[in-house]
Order: sequence, then C-alpha cells, then structure tokens
Amino acid sequence: MNDQFVDDLLARMTWQEKLGQLQITYHPDAGRTRDLVSAGMGCIFWQGSAEATNAMQRHAVTHTRLGIPLLVGLDVIHGQRTIFPTPLALAASFQPELAEVVARISGREAASGGVNWTFSPMVDVSRDPRWGRVVEGFGEDVLLNSTFGAAMVRGYQGDDLAAAGAIAACAKHFVGYGHAEGGRDYNTTDMSEYRLRNTYLPPFKAVLEAGAATVMAAFNTIDGVPVHANGRLLTEVLREEWGFEGVVVGDADGVMNLIPHGVAANPSEALLLAFRAGLTVEMGGNLVKDGIHVLTDAELSPTVVDDAVRRVLTLKVALGLFDDPYVDPEREILEATPEHRQIARDVAASSMVLLKNDDALLPLAEPRRILVTGPHANSTDHLGAWVQSFATPSGSIVDELRRRLPETEVMLSLGATFLGGDEPSLAAEAASRASESDLVVVFVGEPSNLSGEAASRSDLRLPGQQEALIHAIADTGVPFIVVIESGRPLALSEWFHRAPAVLQAWHLGTEAPHAIVSALTGRTAPSGKLPVSLPRSSSQVPIFYSHENTGRPATVGGQLEPTKWDPALHGPNNVDDKYSSKYLDLDLGPLLPFGHGLTYTRFEYSEARVSTETLSLDSLRHGATFGLEITVTNVGERAGDEIVQLYVHDLVAHRVQPIRVLRKFSQVHLEAGESRSVSFHLCFEDLAFWSESHLTPGFDVEAGAFDVFIGGSSDAALATRIEVTTAP
Ligand code: IFM
Repeated sequence: MNDQFVDDLLARMTWQEKLGQLQITYHPDAGRTRDLVSAGMGCIFWQGSAEATNAMQRHAVTHTRLGIPLLVGLDVIHGQRTIFPTPLALAASFQPELAEVVARISGREAASGGVNWTFSPMVDVSRDPRWGRVVEGFGEDVLLNSTFGAAMVRGYQGDDLAAAGAIAACAKHFVGYGHAEGGRDYNTTDMSEYRLRNTYLPPFKAVLEAGAATVMAAFNTIDGVPVHANGRLLTEVLREEWGFEGVVVGDADGVMNLIPHGVAANPSEALLLAFRAGLTVEMGGNLVKDGIHVLTDAELSPTVVDDAVRRVLTLKVALGLFDDPYVDPEREILEATPEHRQIARDVAASSMVLLKNDDALLPLAEPRRILVTGPHANSTDHLGAWVQSFATPSGSIVDELRRRLPETEVMLSLGATFLGGDEPSLAAEAASRASESDLVVVFVGEPSNLSGEAASRSDLRLPGQQEALIHAIADTGVPFIVVIESGRPLALSEWFHRAPAVLQAWHLGTEAPHAIVSALTGRTAPSGKLPVSLPRSSSQVPIFYSHENTGRPATVGGQLEPTKWDPALHGPNNVDDKYSSKYLDLDLGPLLPFGHGLTYTRFEYSEARVSTETLSLDSLRHGATFGLEITVTNVGERAGDEIVQLYVHDLVAHRVQPIRVLRKFSQVHLEAGESRSVSFHLCFEDLAFWSESHLTPGFDVEAGAFDVFIGGSSDAALATRIEVTTAP
C-alpha cells in the first residue's frame, strides 16, 4: 500500500468525507461518537477497551461508504496500565534509554486495547515550575528534552508503525507552551526569534528527526499569533524548513479558542484560519457537527484540504490500519504484568534524586521504631498527572514499609493534609509520636492533581500545613528524613536547612511504594539528578542554569555565580555588591542547581585530558571534534552510579551566550574504589548557536575560546579551555 493507494482513495472522496478525516472529537457517550463516525469522522479517542474500540472500527469500516479505518488517540503519557514515573521524574534519570523502554511498554499496553496514536511526548522546555505541565516534560534543558523526547518516539513507534505494539507519537505542544507568562496555563507567550530557535524549537527538531509521526499545536500565542493560526510556525518552519510530512493535530478546542483569543469572529473563521495556517486535524468537533460539514470548498481551498487528508490517510496506511484495524480482545493487557512492574521499579529507582544526606543518614540502618508521617505516608496517590482510571493503582508506603521491615515497628501519624486548614493537633500528635521513635520519615509533597494541565500554582511551597509538620518534627530532635513526592520542583528553603536528609521522589507511578522503600533501605541507591533548578522561593522563578549573562552579573568575592552569599562577609541583603543583577533579599543562584543529585557513595573527578586544544573552524565544519576524557573514581564504600555532565560556555560571541549549556552526559556504574575513564567528543553542533545575523541565518560556530566544565552537576568545575580558530 503506497502513495498511489492514497491518491486513488482521495480521488474517490467527497468533500464531506474529506472534512470528516480532519476531525477528532471526544464524547463520553459512545452513541454520539458512532454518529460522528457515520458522518465521516476519521479519528476518535480510545473507547475504553479493545472490544469497544473494535466496535467503532467496525462501524467505520462497514457503515461508511469508503470504509476508512479510524485513528484512535489517547493521552498515554507515562504508562497505560503500568504507570511509570512522570516524564519529569524520568528525565531525572538522565538515561534516555529508560524513556525508550517506558514508551515501548506503554505503547504495547495501549496498542493491545486498540489505541494507535498517543499524544506524547511533550518536549516543551519548561523553566517556570509554577506551570503545572512542567510534570509532563523533561525539565528546563534543551538537550534533556531533545534526547528524552527522541527516545520516547523510538519507543512508541519502533522501526515500523505497522508492527504489533507500535503506536504513532505526537510531539507537543508546538511551540512555546512552556514559556507561558507567569507560568499560568494557556497564557500568552512572547519571545525573540533568538530564544525560539536556540531553546524552544530544537527539541521538536530532534523528535521529528527521530521520526515522530504527528505534532500537536500549542494553545499559546507567539508574537501575537495563536499557534493554531500561525502559518509561519505550522507551515514555514514545520513543513517548508523542516520538511515535516506528518499530521498536525490541534489541541482540545484550540481552534475554537481562536475566538476568545480575538483573531476569529466565529467558528467558520477560526477553522479557516487554522487549516490555512497548516493544521491537519481539528481536536474538538466543529468541522463535522451533528452531521453538518461546516465549510464549503468555496471557503477552504481544496488543495489545502487534500493535503491534510493525504497526511491523515498516509498515517493510517503506515499504521497498517487498512490491512487490519482490529485488535484481539483476548490479548488486551488489562493490568501491569510482573515483568512490567519490575521495569517500573528499576526506572523509579533511577528517577529519585537524593538532595541531601547529612551524616549518611540514608540508607536506613534498621531502626526498631519508625514513625511515618505526612500526607503521602498513607495515601495511594503516587501515580502522577494524566493517569486514567484504568491504570494499575499503587499501594501505600506505610503498608510497604510494614511488609518489607517485619522486624521494625512502623507507626503512622497523618501529621498534615494537602489541603491545609488542619487541626494544629495533627502536627502536634505526630511530634509526640516522633519522640517515641528512633527515626521519622516525613512523606510530603503534592497530590497528583496539583500538576498537569490547568494546574498552575502561584506558591511553590509545600501546600497546607506540611512545612509546620516538618518544623514540629525537627523540634523533637529525633533524626528524620523528608521524602518529597511532587509534580514539580518545590521551594524548600523554609525548612531544608533543618532536615538532615531529603529525597526528591516525584510521582513514581504504580511501583512508587516499592521503589521508595527500596531506596530508603539501601536495596537500591537513588542516582537521579535534578532536571530542573530548585528555586529558593516562588518569586525567584524563572530560574534556570543556562541563563545569559547580564552586563552586571552578581558576584561575591569577585567570583561569578554560582556562589554563596554570606551575610557575615558580604553585608545584609547583598548591598556591598549593589549594582548587580540579583535580589537584595535572596542568596544568589538556586537552592540546588540543575544536575545536582547525591547517592550512597561519592565520586571524584580527575583533571580533564583533551585531544587537541585548538581546531580550525573549517575542520570543525568538516566533522573534526575535540576529544575530552576524564577519570571518575568511586571514593565511597559501596557501588554506585554517577551521571557525568559536560557543559560548554562560549566566552565571546556576537550574541550574548548562556553561562553554560549542557552538551553531553553519560551514566557510569562504579564499584567501590573503581575508576573509569569517560570520554566525550564535542562537534560543530555542540559549539554552535542560532543567529539571524550569522553569514547565513542558522546555526553556526564563531571562532574563539570555549570553557568546558565536567562534573556531577551544573556547578561542575572548569575542566579545560578549547579554542576554535579562523586559521585553516
Ligand atoms: O493531549 C492533550 C493536550 O496535551 C492538552 N489538552 C488535551 C489534549 C488531549 O487530551
């Protein structure tokens, strides 16, 4: 089946049949969906089971004139039945190969029920954690979003979309959605071409190069033009510049949102704007409504419609739907299997970030009496945002602890709720129980519904009275550990200094309790790194490591940040360095930097070795690379994993450069006392940036010096300086 098949089919289609292919609508009522399919609608949301989805496919194949099978879409974001760590948590593993496995399993589980299209991965760089959707992407960094997004696409789609278990991926939300003003969902986005090209577009380019079959338009505006009506982005960049030949689906009601945006006066105008701009499929239900097809061929050019329909039909062919659109209900995966659960545990172990571990409090020596407290201790809300009711649930942490530590007395006291307004007696009761125990583990964070779509927060602290609970426990003097389960990085400064050990566990999915208990007891070791900077306070956001330098960078003792402001040395409120870029009432830099994460051992880095300190621009353009090597040694007493990170800073260029950019990372496993060489190659792309004022607008390298930093976080020390020369 090929292009000819699609052309022949297209030639036989009526205008109404064509418009029908360009719509996906959600109706809780299957009867309404069936009516729309009868009226020609070509894409539906998953019907909840293999059988119900087969029934809808059968209806399309047998009750419509041309019998065109359906695209069946669903938000499979971090699992279908087996729920894996949220994408943000997954990014903390710094192991994109895990994302590929997660996507492959999620795809297989979803495909077994008849889903053939997922609205994932989300590769919106997000630097404002007030935005609830920060949970669905891979954090603040361009490389993490690119590599994890591409890995998810490979996992979902494999090499052949028609193969069993493969489903079409969707790169979303194109583009700039993560840059919403004030972190408020759906809000306006405005940015320079420079930022768009260097930060927000590259992850989309990467996932399309990995073969993503579809793209979803973002809700936001860019430059005053909503993306759903933005021909420059949807047609010029996506199709003409990048040659994307797949489907561009709108977000839910994104086309009709053009009316409140104020760029369309009515539904027909909105549809015309969107399809003329380059949209392929409307998500919402206005093209075909109650059997009426709203646009005529006098309004919307038949060429535009044919191009869109061709894209949809080509995808259906690629998915093998014309050969067989049905799945075998007997083989539908309805629950997480033991094998999938084990993988979920392994992935969760790699996704947790040990933020702090004073006096090696973790892993737990076997205490006789533990108190567990906090709203996550006894809850089963560990799955995270975007999880549907049919997912395999998780148990509670207190039950898991009791099961796994039969010799230990595990006491439970709620301590606080997520909602606040708690009786102060809750924290007081927990504190009094704490005094009877050897150790306290405080399980705090956010419930799943505080992140995800339409879940922005203005205050990044722990909600409710959870901070008061931590202080009450700290006041008892009993050693304690804080475990944070959240959908975003939170502002921890109010209590962080009082907690001896803090584990960032995100929302880890079905196996969260098992994975968390394994990490606490040392059966596994947390090895994740922060994919986002941890802010000191809500008002410090956006704060991200790869910011541009100002003309007046904040310095302490003559050093550029990140450095610590010491009020004793530098005076209150940083006033000794007054005319520099900072807040008077906050320490410089984040509470913890991007890339930070401890484990149960320690690593040391040797001096870096470089293959050549100088390369000509010409040779770089022709494929020459700088080779860098560093030795990492496990200087602790147990085996562990380290994520070695390499950052580059372009010292002088005609456009201001970020103070450092992550260009490489690599995971190494080292036994106690073992050393290993880790090598990287820096090529043209690693030193390039986009500018319209390069000789040819686009990515280019400018000759000059580059500092290279290698280490275990974005605070990594200077490893070496390399030079690109203009000389041949
Ligand atoms: O895929 C999602 C999108 O990310 C947000 N709005 C709804 C879509 C479909 O559920």
